[in-house]
Amino acid sequence: MKDIAAENKDLPMSLLQNEGNTSVVPLRWEKHVLYLLDQRLLPHEETWLAYRSARDVAKAIRNMVVRGAPAIGITAAFGMVLAAYGLKHKDKALFVEKWLEEAAFMLQARPTAVNLKWAVERLKKLARRHYELSPGDLAAILEKEAISIWTEDVRSNLAIGFHGQALLPEKGGVLTHCNAGGLATGGYGTALGIIRAAISKGNEINVIADETRPWLQGARLTAWELIKDGIAVTLVVDGAAGFLMQKGRIRAVVVGADRIAANGDVANKIGTYTVAELAKANNIPFYVAAPVSTIDPVTPSGDHIPLEERGAGEITSFAGKEIAAPGVGVQNPVFDITPHHLITAIITELGVLTPPYGPGIYACFS
Ligand code: MRU
Repeated sequence: MKDIAAENKDLPMSLLQNEGNTSVVPLRWEKHVLYLLDQRLLPHEETWLAYRSARDVAKAIRNMVVRGAPAIGITAAFGMVLAAYGLKHKDKALFVEKWLEEAAFMLQARPTAVNLKWAVERLKKLARRHYELSPGDLAAILEKEAISIWTEDVRSNLAIGFHGQALLPEKGGVLTHCNAGGLATGGYGTALGIIRAAISKGNEINVIADETRPWLQGARLTAWELIKDGIAVTLVVDGAAGFLMQKGRIRAVVVGADRIAANGDVANKIGTYTVAELAKANNIPFYVAAPVSTIDPVTPSGDHIPLEERGAGEITSFAGKEIAAPGVGVQNPVFDITPHHLITAIITELGVLTPPYGPGIYACFS
């Protein structure tokens, strides 16, 4: 069988290296096998898990082996390629029916990051357009498209970095929440892409990472990938942001997004809204960095974005040990909505959007 990935000269890794950038990537695609870096084990273990079926890929997304909106979208796309290669039906109608069942299962993996839906719908549209092809040929076309989704994401991140770096201070603390870096995207990152671009231009930025309870994406992932890149990073507990702002130790905030509504409201990791309110109260710019694939133009406002809630055990236990009082009630919403009026600018690959966001978002799709 042809190895399309090996033939594709524009693969994200080479793209990153050609541009003189370094960054970890969360996935590899080799000879019809998807490899995911198990982000649950970072920073202490770098384990790559092999995936050969769409169902297993959907479960990996659900279980946080891979996370971060664009990375979830790219992963889901490769999951749908695996589904196409794995379906042996010669009968075309049956093939399509079964493939769409896999797509429906994939779409249930996580609800908030719109990139997952965006990527799966993009492949469904392509499959509809090439309905006349044999299952094998259709699978090959879907594979090319998944590789394009990945490559385009890396290109978008490089462009976001270019547009966003001009907004960061020449010197001082820049706070980020969760992980919006190479691990959360096809490579390079959105929020961390901007920080990478500013630092490589010579800005003396002190990156401050919120630890991001309960999965500790800041402490484990943001810190790990920046240190790997030679970028100094300071870890703080989530509750420290307001104090550091009051003391003048934070000059700007830059975060990623899981979904941006048509009016500019942003769903992102729980705690983002709190940071945005604090930034407003302390007169500090609050930036959101995301590719256009994270914008959901048919969702009018944050009120309509489905927000994931996860199990109580993520909060009541830590590193496999029970830490909360037995019998305590728990709520574990994992995303929140930052209203558009708290956001100074949204940085996409197409440029910098400023309030009012409606017209700029509309223009991204026209
Ligand atoms: O639960 P996670 O780790 O998938 O949440 C990730 C985030 O909230 C990121 O900030 C967001 O997906 C942007 S990633 C470029």
